Amino acid sequence: MQQVVLITGASRRVGLHMAKRFHQDGYRVLAQYRTKTEGVEELHALGIMTVQANFDSKEHIFAFIKDCKHYCESIRAIIHNASSFSPTEVDLEAAAEQYQQFFMVHMMAPYLINEALRDRLKGDNNDPADIVNITDINVENPTHRFDIYGTTKAGLQNMTLALAKKYAPKIKVNAIAPGPVLFTENHSDEVKQEMMSETPLGREGGAEPVYLAVKSLLTNNFLTGITIPVDGGRRLAKR
Ligand SMILES: NC(=O)c1ccc[n+]([C@@H]2O[C@H](COP(=O)([O-])OP(=O)(O)OC[C@H]3O[C@@H](n4cnc5c(N)ncnc54)[C@H](OP(=O)(O)O)[C@@H]3O)[C@@H](O)[C@H]2O)c1
Repeated sequence: MQQVVLITGASRRVGLHMAKRFHQDGYRVLAQYRTKTEGVEELHALGIMTVQANFDSKEHIFAFIKDCKHYCESIRAIIHNASSFSPTEVDLEAAAEQYQQFFMVHMMAPYLINEALRDRLKGDNNDPADIVNITDINVENPTHRFDIYGTTKAGLQNMTLALAKKYAPKIKVNAIAPGPVLFTENHSDEVKQEMMSETPLGREGGAEPVYLAVKSLLTNNFLTGITIPVDGGRRLAKR
């Protein structure tokens, strides 16, 4: 029987790539998306199951969990990839709104999904199930311009450790901390060059190294509470 992998934020970029790669590798993928993109159409064309959800309120998160329970009796892995990324708002009212949104997507949604689907994550002592949180190397070396993004991702990092203890031995809980894997349209050529020159491996990594790191966690049954940086060595750069 095909094992189910649930991936959040699969409408584009890294999440979309992982959904397609897990499908290619023979898993049954349940892909969450917020916005219906061309990527979501690609997933449909491949026969990948999708669920629309916005993690902006606990009601929407609970509705998403209900859908997941409807579609999957048993889950092999949950990949928490959904994320919001933007510089910290200067205006305090706007910053408060941003904090709320980033808290919901980076912390509240993963927490409620894990707790509610814990019983569906089927693993045992020899072959534990997996939760993988996609964090960021900036959790360890914060950038003040992105402190709301960074502190809420740091919450997800701490949750990795807390739930690794709580869910053992039947579920492993680990994190992947990407560095510059895919630039956004907001990165200027100058910023891209600067970031690449500061990164020992000197390039934009792409989504595949993230997938390979996630896969390595799923195939190793003696790793829990760890974080793998997928950053071309950028965490070592002087910044
Ligand atoms: N790209 C990098 O170089 C890099 C570097 C460090 C860390 N990371 C981490 O790696 C992961 C993938 O990165 P990425 O660049 O592919 O991310 P991305 O392009 O920002 O995509 C994020 C995904 O999350 C979804 N999402 C955002 N807010 C949501 C909400 N409130 N409810 C439900 N879904 C929501 C987005 O849906 P919509 O399509 O509707 O917006 C999108 O599918 C993220 O966790 C990111 O923080 C990436």
